[in-house]
Amino acid sequence: MYRTETFYNVFPWHTNHFGSLHGGIYMSWLIDSAGILMSSVSQGNYLLASVDYLYLVKPARIDDVVRVIAEAKASWRSSVEIEVRGCIKRNGKEELGAIGLMSYVAVDENGRPRPIKAEIPSNPDAELRRARRLERKKLTAEDTSELLPGMTFGRSYIRTIYPEHGFTNGILYAGKMYTMLDEALAIVAKLYSKGNTFTASAGAVDFLNPVRIGDILEIQGAIEYTGNTSLDVGAKIFAINHFRGTKTLVGRTVFSFVAIDDQGKPRPINKLEPASEYERRIMEMRLKEREERIKIGKTLQQRECQ
Ligand SMILES: CC(C)(COP(=O)(O)OP(=O)(O)OC[C@H]1O[C@@H](n2cnc3c(N)ncnc32)[C@H](O)[C@@H]1OP(=O)(O)O)[C@@H](O)C(=O)NCCC(=O)NCCS
Repeated sequence: MYRTETFYNVFPWHTNHFGSLHGGIYMSWLIDSAGILMSSVSQGNYLLASVDYLYLVKPARIDDVVRVIAEAKASWRSSVEIEVRGCIKRNGKEELGAIGLMSYVAVDENGRPRPIKAEIPSNPDAELRRARRLERKKLTAEDTSELLPGMTFGRSYIRTIYPEHGFTNGILYAGKMYTMLDEALAIVAKLYSKGNTFTASAGAVDFLNPVRIGDILEIQGAIEYTGNTSLDVGAKIFAINHFRGTKTLVGRTVFSFVAIDDQGKPRPINKLEPASEYERRIMEMRLKEREERIKIGKTLQQRECQ
């Protein structure tokens, strides 16, 4: 079985200003560990092709140790499905802190898919998930429009991608991408809710195109749903090549946040009233997805840290 375990110590510089492991760093640790496993499965370069979900179930705190288990679930010609679980060790006990499912593709020196030798048996459920991903990817690629026009509350986050953000093949490293995504979307959640927030989950994303070192990354984030204490921030990620004057859609996703008070307890937020038919449709879609997401999250939380 293809499986790795990686250990991380939560130090003060990994935490936010209220003492919890930063959501973006938490997610980047899950991606680091899946990447370590993928490098042994693929025996060479690879890229993160998609994430089905990442749930942050329990916050980790300073001095906790997070053991991340990565397990390959199935492989095909060039792609591998990997599950990650982050287990928090505290006072001699261990609890599930985070869980995610993602797919990697082995690539050659030009970033194109290449066959792998490893064979990890698939099964009907894995085949169904794979078919859904490819369908989802098609739908994402069909709508390359900007996210912010037409949305009541949103912000754009822009930065240059330097070598410090890159992978060995000159492409933005997915762990860094998640740290930036979490920061960008948490800013939208905090500004809207006028206080602190916890990242609860990151939704599905298919990475259509790479972001290269030297590109400008733009993350557009907008409030797409508000509950009593939680809110969904939708995102569209773009790579801008300022030499060619092009702007390419990299992916679309949604992060869920919970607004918290000074004691870390959920606090009520204002409901966002949709200002247009377009915004109302997005909110309805997010509400439907959210019911499904919560159901899946509850099942996954039962998973053990073995
Ligand atoms: C991932 C990538 C290399 C796939 O290239 P592509 O031309 O779309 O791929 P193809 O249609 O030829 O399919 C090749 C394989 O990738 C798999 N694949 C493609 N998109 C996928 C997705 N969204 N999720 C899971 N697997 C996917 C296919 O199933 C196929 O698998 P197989 O060879 O095992 O049968 C390409 O989309 C890419 O470069 N994306 C950006 C990746 C990136 O930058 N990641 C870092 C994010 S910060």
